[in-house]
Amino acid sequence: MSTCVITGFGAGIGRATAIKLAQDGLFDKYALIGRNEKDMNNTWGEMTRFVSTDRIKIYYLDLSKPELIPAIVEEIHNEMGDINCLLNIAGYTDPKSLLTTTLDSFELTYRVNVFAPFMLMRECVKYMKNTGGKILNVASTAGMTPRPGWLSYASSKAAVISMSQTLTAELAEYGISVYCVSPGRCATKLRKRLAPDEDPTTIMQPEDVAGVICNLIGPNECCLDGQNIVIRKAVK
Ligand SMILES: NC(=O)c1ccc[n+]([C@@H]2O[C@H](COP(=O)([O-])OP(=O)(O)OC[C@H]3O[C@@H](n4cnc5c(N)ncnc54)[C@H](OP(=O)(O)O)[C@@H]3O)[C@@H](O)[C@H]2O)c1
Repeated sequence: MSTCVITGFGAGIGRATAIKLAQDGLFDKYALIGRNEKDMNNTWGEMTRFVSTDRIKIYYLDLSKPELIPAIVEEIHNEMGDINCLLNIAGYTDPKSLLTTTLDSFELTYRVNVFAPFMLMRECVKYMKNTGGKILNVASTAGMTPRPGWLSYASSKAAVISMSQTLTAELAEYGISVYCVSPGRCATKLRKRLAPDEDPTTIMQPEDVAGVICNLIGPNECCLDGQNIVIRKAVK
């Protein structure tokens, strides 16, 4: 039985990915980590069109509290068995200039975008190292390109790219592949906070990114781990 752990599944890219995974039947079981009850129940409902209810479970956690992650992962392992895949999709942004960014805001961004993925990888790998598996982290093109006013978000995503590349080498001995994707502009709530005036119909949609993620973690992909894979749709 294969189990996939997903964060950020309540909205945007995470929601589209979770539904596509269920639709494609890529895993037997899904452990969904999040905090927004209404959104999470909505995605759960969509997934149950394709997967029986006993194979999908929601685990409530605010990822800004990464110290709670070891207990949650242990619970997932006890209830769902071997963990074969971890998708770190959740993300947070509070775009501000250097002089207006507070330490609290900077820390919250890093808690959700960097510390939580770190803790989830560490705790899941404790189990995954016995079976092998795949980890996929969602970074951003913002982590590679200067973005004035996005200091905490952009630098946190640079950290995600770096962690993914470091761990690709470190975890290879366990048969664990680490993928990193950096989407460009995608029509979600988070993007709206970064670019409030943008017309969402003119940019990538969550399903576009979800399609790439599902291909990467599917059984046929074996060569693209360790790279920072940019997902960007050509403007027509
Ligand atoms: N959209 C883009 O243009 C773009 C581009 C590059 C990278 N990305 C990355 O793509 C990933 C998905 O974001 P999205 O664009 O799909 O945005 P989104 O629709 O706003 O989804 C973000 C998800 O992260 C969850 N999340 C945020 N803070 C959380 C916390 N403290 N605890 C638990 N869950 C939390 C949200 O849940 P709540 O509803 O509870 O907040 C939501 O489910 C993020 O890592 C983002 O940085 C997005």
